[in-house]
Amino acid sequence: IKKIGVLTSGGDAPGMNAAIRSVVRTCAYHKIECVGVYRGYEGLMEGDFKSMNARSVKDIINKGGTILKSARSKEFRTVEGRKQAYNHIKNANIDALVLIGGDGTFTGGMIFNQEFDFPVIGIPGTIDNDIYGTSHTLGFDTALNTVVEAIDKIRDTASSHNRLFFIEVMGRDAGHIALNVGVGAGAEEILIPEEDMGLDRLVESLRRSRESGKTSSIVIVAEGDKIGKSVFELKDYVDENMEGYDVRVSVLGHMQRGGAPSCFDRVLASRMGVKAVESLLAGKTNYMVGLINGEIELTPLDSAIKGKSKINLELLRVSEIMST
Ligand code: F6P
Repeated sequence: IKKIGVLTSGGDAPGMNAAIRSVVRTCAYHKIECVGVYRGYEGLMEGDFKSMNARSVKDIINKGGTILKSARSKEFRTVEGRKQAYNHIKNANIDALVLIGGDGTFTGGMIFNQEFDFPVIGIPGTIDNDIYGTSHTLGFDTALNTVVEAIDKIRDTASSHNRLFFIEVMGRDAGHIALNVGVGAGAEEILIPEEDMGLDRLVESLRRSRESGKTSSIVIVAEGDKIGKSVFELKDYVDENMEGYDVRVSVLGHMQRGGAPSCFDRVLASRMGVKAVESLLAGKTNYMVGLINGEIELTPLDSAIKGKSKINLELLRVSEIMST
């Protein structure tokens, strides 16, 4: 392997830049060439490449987003799209790819690997933390801190006005963010996609909270929570069925994906980038690097995609006890 390409794809996540920096500098360290691919698979299909050296990635370890930009590509899901990408890669003499992203990114990479026998390796980057084979994805830790800071601020106004707040956090399919910020920010209830706590239990819990003397409450709702009601529908339900609540809704949205990466994410990104490049150089392909018991290990891409990232349900119980 003499030349490695690196791209970011799917939803951006803080720490992606630190991972790009690590990949580029590990290539420089081992005296091989590195090429940045812009806009994920979109750029791969258009040959939107730029040669990168150690200095190209200065001053980015502390930056959110991704300097290579990102996209969710539909065309790369077609055989024609992938063939086009392969032709550009061959013309540019790229021998292997490092893919930074989530399960959609890895699925594309795995199919590409199978079709063209082309070496790929994945680095998990998504705030959702919903990838098997790593305890932490890049951006998860930063997002937790961003969200907790936002909820702390909402708590100030909730308690000043004796209000009940439904706060929606990201996580279409996974409750990792909701569960952790729920405990970390001291929420009364947490609604996640993996467990159906039921509307009755929620109502009961809110009543109990009030009877125990609480004057304000915070309920964290993951985007894809299993009750299947949006934060606005939950507010309407409480307004219609429960007396004496002053309810507000806050949807945190994309601010959760931005901002400077935490030190944890920067260190993780640096370690993952080194492992990704050195694994490719050692002839490994079709793997994802991940943090397992404190070590950076390889998991086959196939398992990373198909395996379920385990939600820590102990946190639900901790939350229940803490909101007594
Ligand atoms: O996968 C990361 C994520 O931020 C999810 O939590 C969220 O549901 C989704 O991306 C939002 O995607 P988009 O930016 O395309 O609206």
